[in-house]
Amino acid sequence: MFKKQQFGIDLGSDLIKIYNVRKNTLLKEKNMIAVMDKDTYLAIGNDAYEMYEKNPKNVRVMIPMSEGMIADTGSLEIILYSLFRKASPHLSKSPELYFAVPTDMTQIEKRAYYMLTRNGAFQDCRVFLINRPIADAIALGISVKNTKGEMIVNIGAQSTEISVIADSRVILSRVLPVGGFTIDTEIVDSVRRYHQLFIGMRTAARLKLAMGNIEEEKREARKAMGISSVTGLPKEGTVVSEVVNKAVLSVIDHIGEDIRSVLERTPPQVRSEIHKNGFYLLGGTSSLPGIDRYLAETLEYPVLLSRFTDEGTIHGLQEIIASKDLTRQWAYPADGKKKKKKR
Ligand SMILES: Nc1ncnc2c1ncn2[C@@H]1O[C@H](COP(=O)(O)OP(=O)(O)OP(=O)(O)O)[C@@H](O)[C@H]1O
Ligand SMILES: [Mg+2]
Repeated sequence: MFKKQQFGIDLGSDLIKIYNVRKNTLLKEKNMIAVMDKDTYLAIGNDAYEMYEKNPKNVRVMIPMSEGMIADTGSLEIILYSLFRKASPHLSKSPELYFAVPTDMTQIEKRAYYMLTRNGAFQDCRVFLINRPIADAIALGISVKNTKGEMIVNIGAQSTEISVIADSRVILSRVLPVGGFTIDTEIVDSVRRYHQLFIGMRTAARLKLAMGNIEEEKREARKAMGISSVTGLPKEGTVVSEVVNKAVLSVIDHIGEDIRSVLERTPPQVRSEIHKNGFYLLGGTSSLPGIDRYLAETLEYPVLLSRFTDEGTIHGLQEIIASKDLTRQWAYPADGKKKKKKR
C-alpha cells in the first residue's frame, strides 16, 4: 500500500538528526556548512566538519544554529536539502516534515521553521512542529496526560533545555545557552592556562571524549597538537585529565545550579513528585561518564539517565508520527493556519 513520506527532524546545534519513517532509517550528521568566497558551497554535514579549523582564509565553516535556535535560514535550508537527498534520494512531491522545537518560541522563531522549507524540493511539503520536551517525554515512556510531575533535562551542544511536565502539559521550560560546546571552550581555556598550548575546538572535543569523566580520579594524559603560547609555533603537548575534567566540572556545576533554580520555581506538589521519582537526563552531553551520579549527589534528587542520549528526541518524534492519536495531540502546523480540533 502507498505510504506517504514522513520525516522526523531534530535540528541540533551539533548534529542534525533525520528519521525517515518509510525506510525506518536515521541519518545523523554534523550541522555544518563550508562556504568559499561567500557564495560557493564546498561541503555540508560531516564533510564540512572535516574542513573545520583546517580551512584556508577564504573558506568559512559555519553552524547555522545559535543556542539551539535557527540563526541562518539560508545556510540551513541548503544543509537540510543536501541531507534529505542522502536520507531519501527519491523525495515525493509533498512529504510531511515534523520538527522538534523548543517550547517557548516567538512567532518569528516559529516562522523560521516554516520558511526553511518554502523553496525548491520542499515547497509543497507540510511542516509540523512538536515541542521537544513532549517528544523527549514520549521517548522516555512518560505518560504526559497522566503524570503528576516529571522533569526532563536535555543537555546538547549549545543548549540545555530543562522542562517540567504536569497537568498534561509543559508547565515550565528553560533553554540555557550551555552544553557540550561550552565544555569544549572551557577545555581550550584550561589547556591554554595549564599547558601554555592553544588548541582548537575539535581537539578539545576529542580530549573530552577520550578523558572526560566527572567522578573517577583516574589520571590519564593524551597528546594534542596546538600552538605554543610561549613561542607562537606549532607544538605537540601532553594534556592531563585533571585539566580536562576541571573544565568539564565547571560547566556541569553551572548546569546543576540552573536545574536547582528551575526546581525552586516548580510548584511544591510537582517538585515532591520529581523528588520521589527523580529527573531524566538525555542529550549528547549526558553521555559524560558519571554525570548522573554527580548531579544526583549535588542536587540530592534521583537522576534517571536515558539510554537514548542524543537520539532521545528523534525516538520521541518517531513514536508520535507512528500514532494518529499522538500526532493529533502534539503536532501543530508551522504556518499556524490549520487549527487542530484537540490540543
Ligand atoms: N561521550 C560523550 N561525552 C561527553 N560529551 C559527549 C559525548 N558524546 C557526545 N557528546 C557531546 O554531545 C553534544 C551533542 O549532543 P546533541 O546531539 O544532543 O546536541 P545537539 O542536539 O546537536 O545540540 P543542541 O541541543 O544544543 O542544539 C556534543 O557537544 C558532543 O561533544
Ligand atoms: Mg539537541
